[in-house]
Amino acid sequence: MGLLDAIKRAREQKSLAAAGPLQSSKNVPTPDPVGGEAQRAAEEEAHISGALSVEELNKILDSIQDIPTLPSIANKVIQVINDPQSNSKAIADIIKNDPALTARLLKIGNSAYYAGYSPCTNVQNAITRMGLLQIKRLVFSISILGAFDKYAAAGFDIKDFWKHSIAVAYNTRTIGKLARFRDTEELYTAGLLHDLGMLIIIKYMPEMFDAIMKKREAAPGLSFYDCERSDYPISHCEIGSWLSVRWQMSREIQSVIYNHHQPPISSTLFEKDIIMFSAIVYLADRFSSKIDAGFLNDHDSEIDRQIYNYVFSTPMPEEELIAQLMKNKPVIEATAASL
Ligand SMILES: [Fe+2]
Ligand SMILES: [Fe+2]
Repeated sequence: MGLLDAIKRAREQKSLAAAGPLQSSKNVPTPDPVGGEAQRAAEEEAHISGALSVEELNKILDSIQDIPTLPSIANKVIQVINDPQSNSKAIADIIKNDPALTARLLKIGNSAYYAGYSPCTNVQNAITRMGLLQIKRLVFSISILGAFDKYAAAGFDIKDFWKHSIAVAYNTRTIGKLARFRDTEELYTAGLLHDLGMLIIIKYMPEMFDAIMKKREAAPGLSFYDCERSDYPISHCEIGSWLSVRWQMSREIQSVIYNHHQPPISSTLFEKDIIMFSAIVYLADRFSSKIDAGFLNDHDSEIDRQIYNYVFSTPMPEEELIAQLMKNKPVIEATAASL
């Protein structure tokens, strides 16, 4: 039995047991943000009868045997990123042991974006040219991408997927700064990983992916997310969030992956900081399409003004925001082209 069938069957059984009508999967409670009590309260609030709880979904997803692990190099980079004492030697030592990674970094270092410098021939050159922060971001992005580079499906261009992910990562960081949110590199990681669940759907639920792509062929205005919500008991949000838990990512990142299409700005169950993460990534996701880095029509619907105003507590004209995000375009293009 495939993964999707297992989820459907568990949901049907639960629905029968509750002897109530099937609920929309929108009612699946969010991952426990502040402890078991909060989750239980959320479940009661939602009057769940047919929807599966996070634990029930996780139990089924845990049956995946060959799930990609977080690349060890990405793990090391996270440690270096989180260490304020980190320096260029520490990161160069990590990179030098990986020839494929080194080659990619040099390719970016010699791209048009960094034109005007002498050729970049070694890791130390690349670090000097791009700066430590940029190198850390690239190492993290490239190593995560490497874990999924064989994930292919008809109608899905993995290069477009990564371009979108990189765009959302840079734009998340910029929106965070403009909103005067706390200065954290974790925003970049959250943006980069927000759609990770899509790759799991491609690999482990290909029948769901194919059906959604066919539906979108007939109705191109429909987004991938709309199709998930209308036809399936699970979406890339729950699946990606499950993977982020397996990878022991932070609560902020788990919550972003779960909530990036519907940031819970009115919820009292989440801390403001956690909600801001999701709301900022929501805006970065939407506005990335405006600078030509959208993906699978997930951004065609209108931007929720309440979320916009939640993120920008002082007025921020949309044109000004777009002008700021456009400044990220060259580095997004250069990075995406070199992957
Ligand atoms: Fe998404
Ligand atoms: Fe997205």
